[in-house]
Formats: sequence, structure tokens, C-alpha cells
Amino acid sequence: MTKNWTPQSWRGKPIKQVPFYPDAQALADVESRLRSYPPLVFAGEARKLTRQLGEVADGRAFLLQGGDCAESFAEHGADNIRDFFRVFLQMAVVLTFGASQPVVKVGRIAGQFAKPRSSDVEIKDGVELPAYRGDIINGIDFEAASRIPDPNRQDMAYRQSAATLNLLRAFAQGGYANLENVHQWMLGFVGNSPQGERYEALAKRISETMDFMRSIGITSESNARLRETDFYTSHEALLLGYEEALTRVDSTSGDWYGTSGHMIWIGDRTRQPDHAHVEYCRGIKNPLGLKCGPSLDPDGLLKLIDLLNPENEPGRLTLIARFGYDKVSDHLPKLIRAVQKEGRKVVWSCDPMHGNTITANGYKTRPFDRILKEVETFFAVHRGEGSYPGGIHIEMTGKNVTECTGGARAISAEDLSDRYHTHCDPRLNADQALELAFLVAELLKKERDAQPQKKVVNG
Ligand code: TRP
Ligand code: MN
Repeated sequence: MTKNWTPQSWRGKPIKQVPFYPDAQALADVESRLRSYPPLVFAGEARKLTRQLGEVADGRAFLLQGGDCAESFAEHGADNIRDFFRVFLQMAVVLTFGASQPVVKVGRIAGQFAKPRSSDVEIKDGVELPAYRGDIINGIDFEAASRIPDPNRQDMAYRQSAATLNLLRAFAQGGYANLENVHQWMLGFVGNSPQGERYEALAKRISETMDFMRSIGITSESNARLRETDFYTSHEALLLGYEEALTRVDSTSGDWYGTSGHMIWIGDRTRQPDHAHVEYCRGIKNPLGLKCGPSLDPDGLLKLIDLLNPENEPGRLTLIARFGYDKVSDHLPKLIRAVQKEGRKVVWSCDPMHGNTITANGYKTRPFDRILKEVETFFAVHRGEGSYPGGIHIEMTGKNVTECTGGARAISAEDLSDRYHTHCDPRLNADQALELAFLVAELLKKERDAQPQKKVVNG
């Protein structure tokens, strides 16, 4: 068990990005209620995810992680969850098929509610209010009352996460994710795009393969692998009181697990080694993510790896690089070299969203070509360093939104106002997400062809 650690030991450390709750008693009441609620995920599932991420760390699988920047109470509905899940499945199929590798599927969902902010306040037309910090903390409306942190929102977030997870489990295990349905995952509005056609061609090849397998007696009725998929949840572990309340001892191993989601990550703004967020995360056994931005130097990274993965367990720690398309080649190589020199086992994942946010026409947006460029450069840097580009981490939705500019449909800055719905950062729409998946599949294919010996190990 981790030394000098308890689920509440983070409370004795300095902390950033913490909301001020005016009613401390109400907060304590909610936290104590949450402590009595059932866990959302189980230790055995988190362990299985760690094992699968271990395969990624060793270069034998690829991590696909994505979902909303911030989930919201207002957009909680079956259609949204289904539309997200189907694009996610499409991306997973494109990547599995393209790279001939298993894809580890992790949603930014069923718990992704709390947001770190660059400023504690928001000013509009001369009025200053506390910043919106995500639906689990306060309301997005620009009104004084809605911006006061309300502890009961944690109860709501827990319940929404449970309902979302319930539907996702049903989709993943109950037939929706069956490879026989590969044609049905197509969303109407994607159908007539270049990505739609490309996807249809790939789906046709998969159906043919399924037909062939059926003819030799391998069917989705008899083979769960064709019928089901492992889908995991993840979010940023920002609101530590909530995380603490859902931290439980696993009766099989005696270890502590965060049960708010399978994987949780530490944001780029809260990764100070002697602060509260690192303290909380080091003690739980879930697989962890660590966002790595331009201010992280190699020594700082090694220090964090020591704290978060002292036993050097493959799959325990995923480093999520988020530098920006023009910075990744300056910053990433030295981090990779430090990790390699010290023999640390990590998953390297690329978040091409957060380093590429700009303002256009009064909207926060992200040019799609910069997103693609960061992913390409991420792969090129790994090629140069002899390391494995193991995953992508993206903000996306199944809805036909206009939040990121560019892509095959060439969304312009003027188009942003058409369907700009995000509660926080701009997300890829279904078209753009699929386009990105095709690009990554091609990069992975190249990667694999460059390393013929790995192919033999896989086969
Ligand atoms: N079970 C396998 C997997 O998860 C194959 C599979 C079934 C699959 N349904 C899927 C792959 C949907 C991608 C998408 O990889
Ligand atoms: Mn974001």
C-alpha cells in the first residue's frame, strides 16, 4: 500500500483550481451521502484496463480516448450518448482494421464534468462573476446565483454518470457494438461526405469477412469477441472531494480504487508534484493519465513518474502530450529521451486539441489542419526517437456541430455560429472525428510496416 497515503491525505496539501463553497455543511452532507452510494466502476474492470494499456505501452495495441470537453446536465439524453458511441465505434473499427491492432476504447464520459479555468472570474459587459467550472460545480448561465458553487450538483453528476454508464454498458455488451452492425453505426449526416464513403467501403470489407467466417462456423452468436467490446470511462480528477467520496477499498486485493471512472487523469494546470491532485492520484490503483504541456521539463516529468508509477508497471501511466502543432517537435523529444534513458514504461498519447485553441469571429475554435498536423508531428517525433506513439486523446461529439474550423466540409470562421453548442472547448464533429481516425490508421500502418519484426510478434 502507498506510503503515508489515505483517500483524504490530499487535504493537507496546497491545491489549485478549487471552488469556494459558501455552505460548508451542505458540502459535507453531500460528500457523506456520496460515500454511501454504490461504486460506478469496479476494481476488476480498472485492472483489466491497466492490463490492456500495458499492451499499448509495449506497442501491441492503440489507445483511443475521446468525448466531450465537458459533459452537461442539459445535454444528458439517450440520443447524445448513442450518437457519441456510434462515431466512437466507427473510429475504433477504422483504427483496428487499418492498423491490424487491438484498440483500447476509453470515453471521456460518464464523469467528465469539472473544468479547470485559466481565470477565477469571467467579465462580460463590465460585470464580473465567478468563472463557470463545470456542471458538477456551478451553472453556465451568466448570472450571479448560477455561478455560486452548489454541492447538490455533485449528487446530480453522480446520478447522470450512473445512467450514462448504464447505457454505455448496454451498448458495449448488449448487441449494439456487434461487428455485424458495422453499417448501422453510420450517422445520417456523415453518409454523404467523403469520410462516409470511405467508411462504407471499409464496412463492406468487414461484412464480407464476417460472411466468410460465418460460412466456416464462426458467428457472433457463438463468439463474444465479435459481438461485444470493452468500453471504459475516464475523466479529469479535478474535484477531489467528489473523488475521495467515491474512493473504495477493493475487497479482493485490499487496494484503494477510485470508483468514479475506470481511468482518471491529472490536468496540465494541477500537476504540481507536492500538491493535492498528484497526492490523491498516487494512492489509487486505477490507470492514470497525466497531461503534459509546454511547461513540463524532463526532470519534472521524471519526478512525477516516480510519484505516480513507482513500480514501473506498464499501463499504469499514460502521458498525454498537448503541446500545439508548432511546439510538439520542440518539447516532446526531450521528454521521450528522459523516459527512455530511465527505462520508464509509459503509454504516449497525443492530445492535439488543447494546444491548438484560438479565437475566431468571437468563438473559441480549433483549426482542423492544426489538429492533424500535431498528430502527424507526434508520430514523426516518435519515429525519430524509436518510441511508440500509443494513442490519441480528443474532444469530439456525435452531433453535427460547427465548433472546429476546417475538415472535408471546410467549416469557416463564419460558420461557427451555426451550431456551436459546447459547454467548454470546441469539439470535433462526427465527420472530422472520422477523418482523423482514417489519418491515424494510415500513420499506424506506416509505423507497423517500418517495424516488420513487431508484425511477427502480433501475428
Ligand atoms: N471485441 C473486439 C474489440 O473490441 C471486436 C469488436 C467488436 C469491435 N465490436 C467492435 C471493434 C466495435 C471495434 C468496434 O476490439
Ligand atoms: Mn477541453
